Formats: sequence, C-alpha cells, structure tokens
Amino acid sequence: MKRSTEEAVRRRRSFFLLASTSGCAALALAWSCSQPTPRSEPPTPPPAPEPSSLSAESLDVLDDEAEISVELEATLDEWFGDLFEPRYVVLPEWREAGFDPNTSPFEGARAFEGIDEADLETIRAGNREHWSSVLNAIDRNANRLPGPWPGRRDLNQTWRDVRLNRNAVGPADFKREARRLFEEDFPTSADTARLYARNCQQCHGMTGAGDGPMSNMMEPRPRDYRHGVFKFSSVSSPARPRRDDLRRTLEHGLPGTQMASWRERLGMGEREALIDRVRWIAIRGEVERWLVASWIADEEPPSEAIEDAYRTIWSRWLTADDYFVALQDDVPPADAASIERGNALFHDATRGNCASCHGDGGRGDGPNAVEVTPDGVRHPLLRDEWGRPAWPRDLRNGVFRGGSRPIDIYRRVHCGVHGTPMPAQGDTLTQDEIWDLVHYVRSIAGLEPE
Ligand code: HEC
Ligand code: HEC
Repeated sequence: MKRSTEEAVRRRRSFFLLASTSGCAALALAWSCSQPTPRSEPPTPPPAPEPSSLSAESLDVLDDEAEISVELEATLDEWFGDLFEPRYVVLPEWREAGFDPNTSPFEGARAFEGIDEADLETIRAGNREHWSSVLNAIDRNANRLPGPWPGRRDLNQTWRDVRLNRNAVGPADFKREARRLFEEDFPTSADTARLYARNCQQCHGMTGAGDGPMSNMMEPRPRDYRHGVFKFSSVSSPARPRRDDLRRTLEHGLPGTQMASWRERLGMGEREALIDRVRWIAIRGEVERWLVASWIADEEPPSEAIEDAYRTIWSRWLTADDYFVALQDDVPPADAASIERGNALFHDATRGNCASCHGDGGRGDGPNAVEVTPDGVRHPLLRDEWGRPAWPRDLRNGVFRGGSRPIDIYRRVHCGVHGTPMPAQGDTLTQDEIWDLVHYVRSIAGLEPE
C-alpha cells in the first residue's frame, strides 16, 4: 500500500480513538442521529441565556449594512479562521473540561463535537447507503470505477491513491480499503467549505448572509444564518437548534420552499459536515453582528469585546439540549372529540387564538396578520426577524415546512416558529391542548391521523 494511504488510514484510526475517549461528555452533549420521539420528564428550564447586548438602534444601523472594517475582519479571522480554513479558538474553561470543537474523529480538524460511537455507526450506515452504487461497482470488480466527485478534493485524492494501489495490494485488500474510504467518509473542513460553495452558496451566500445570487428570486428568502435564529427546531426560544434539528432540515428539506432535501444528493457524512459548516457560519456571523453593533454604539473595539460575544453566543448552542421539548406521555388519539376541542381552541380569542392570524378557515388570512384592501389586495401586517413580511401558513394546503408528522406540528405549536410572529404556546397551553390543536390542524390539512 502506498505510504500516504496508509498514513491517512492510520491517522483516521487514531482520531477515532481520541474521539471515543475525549472529554466531550463533561459538557453532556448528547446528539443523536436517529429521530426518535423522546419520552422523558420536561427539563426544568435553566435561566435564559444572557440577552445579547444589541440594542434596537444599533441593529437598525446594522440593517443599513455597516462597513466591515479591516480590524473587525482580522479579529474574526483570528477567532474563526477564514472561510476556507475554518476553526475555533478554544476557551480556557473548555480546555479544562476537555472540550475542543475543532477535534474530529476523522482526519482534518473539523468541528464534530458530541458525536459518539453509536452516532458514528449510524453515519457509516448512511454513508454505505449513499455510496452503495460505488461499493457495488467495487464488489463487482468493475473495470470502470466511478468518480470523481465534485467539491470533494480529499475524497478524490484518496480514492485515486487506493485505485493506483489496486494491483499492488491484491483484490481483497483493495476492496477493504475502498469500502473503508466510503463508509468512513467525513469531509475535512476545507472540503466542507467546497461542498458548501458548490451546494448551498448560490442561495445562502458565501458568508451565510442569505444573499447568494439566486436569493433575490425567492420567497421565503434563504436563511441569513448570521442572526443565529433558525425557524424549525425542537427547542424553546432562545436556544439555538440542536444538531438533530439541522439534520432534519437537511434530510427532509423545508417543503413548500426552495430548500430541498439533500438526502439523495449528499452522503450522511457530508450532511453532518455541512451541519458543522452552518453552525460555524452562524456562530461567526452572530459574533460579527454583535461586534459591529457594539462598535457602532461606541463601545470597545472588536478585539477587546470578542471574548464576551464568543462565549455568550457559543453558550446558546451548547445549552440547546436543556431547552429540548421532550414528550412526557403517549400521544392522545386523534379522535373526533379531540379534533373538536382543537377547533374550539383554534378560534378561542382568549386561549389558542390561532384564527387571529391563520383566519377562521385556517387559510392564513387572519385579521392580525393580513389586511385586505377594498380592491382585494392582501398586505402583510407582520414581519419576521429578518425584516421580511411574515405570512401565516395556509393550513389547508397540507404543506408544512417543519414536517407534517404529529410530533413536528406539536413542536411547532409548542416552540413556535423562531424568528417569526408564530408564537410558542408551550407555556400557555397544556400538552393535551396542544395535541388537540395538532389533531385539528392535521384534520383541516386533510392528513390522515397517525
Ligand atoms: C435553491 C436555494 C437553496 C439552496 C441551494 C439551499 N437552501 Fe437552505 N434554505 C433555502 C430557503 C429558501 C430557506 C428558508 C425557508 C424558510 O424560511 O422557511 C432555507 C433554509 C435553510 C436552513 C434553515 C432552517 C431553519 O430551521 O431555519 C438551513 C439550516 C439550510 N437552509 C441549510 C442549507 C444547506 C446546508 C444547504 C446546502 C446543502 C442549503 N441550505 C441549500 C434555500 C436554499
Ligand atoms: C401572530 C400570528 C400567529 C398566531 C397567533 C399563530 N400563528 Fe401559526 N404561523 C404564523 C406565521 C407567520 C407562520 C409562518 C412561519 C414561517 O414559516 O415563516 C405560521 C405557521 C404555522 C404553522 C406551519 C408550520 C410549518 O411547519 O410550516 C402551523 C402548523 C401553525 N402556524 C399553527 C398555529 C396554531 C395551531 C396556532 C394557535 C395556537 C397559531 N399557529 C397561531 C403566525 C401565527
């Protein structure tokens, strides 16, 4: 076997060991690849993370697009690396707890924290599924082996090395090496930058500002990650999404929008890597916005203020699990009585009050959200976090961006749609009342009870 391949495989193995013994557990990050419906006691909500120091005025200035200065850029590069070689500075308390978001079980320093051995097995299985045609060709000893793969410089290079060694090592070793390569496919951070540039940038923009060349033609617009706000998650505000939430978005897309499912097009390792990329862009972007705003407000220069911003913004991601909305009991049946109770709540102006925005018939035309002029033109009355018009969903068309399973809609009503006027009802309605609403909403959407 050629030295470089051997070296790569050896390095992978040792990263592996490192990962399984690393101290990530100290921060109790329990991401899980599967999407079960957890049943556990609801967590006692911890105190809300510090509100950001962004004042309304400074944010207004931000929206007028403040110039990014050389000093700010240099400070950000120091803490985050650059767009093609991303990395994180490790805070002293993280080092003490053995936590380093740069460590990866695989070659290349990529943030991949909190993924455990069981997750890795799931990811390997996902990779096997994605690369099955390649693996089959290898098993068949096909003469024309597939590749290259756009956006994947590291994969292409290693694959080339493995293939060139085909005759030297014999068919059995070749197949084993080739299998391992695809099963344990985790792009490096530099490769993930290319994957993002190839697949996401045209909409979400180079810096994640949601301003890619295709973005102007879209409604809703691609997410501007720099606010750190993600609409569809399983956590109560103000926490950032869990890894699972971003997984769900990448796997299923956001139906009814231009955000497609990436399940067929990308391997699971690639999707996991892109989750890290999105998190990195979001954290970097939010720190950037914070610094610009506080600088405009005439506070400390970025180089002095960054540690506070960095620590606070990271903490919102690290505590996401504490805000997870878990289920305590079984899902009550979607019977006629429950749907009827949901109907009443939907229209009850003192409780659910959904009709005020979604309209009496659930068509997304409620008086609090939409003004209809005498000549029949509809004007949106509400705006979202990004300053765009917020249209309540027409619940009758049966298309739900965050998923249409009962648990998806339960989380929507419980947690709200972050960054939009769609309110979280977890504190005001009981769990059973939320289920009644879920069953009602699914019934008017024409979905079969599950
Ligand atoms: C064709 C345009 C397009 C492409 C390409 C695209 N997206 Fe999106 N994406 C969108 C739109 C539009 C939304 C916002 C939908 C909404 O607001 O409901 C979105 C939203 C998102 C969100 C936010 C979900 C939330 O809960 O707020 C994430 C994360 C995301 N995209 C990741 C990606 C990644 C990663 C890629 C590349 C693999 C990608 N997108 C490629 C259009 C796109
Ligand atoms: C203040 C206005 C407002 C109220 C009140 C409101 N909604 Fe919404 N709702 C919205 C908006 C705006 C959206 C679209 C959010 C987005 O995706 O950008 C929405 C979206 C939704 C969705 C779609 C989620 C998805 O995945 O696509 C559901 C379901 C929903 N609302 C149910 C409800 C229910 C049930 C209630 C009552 C408990 C309610 N809403 C109350 C404004 C409201």
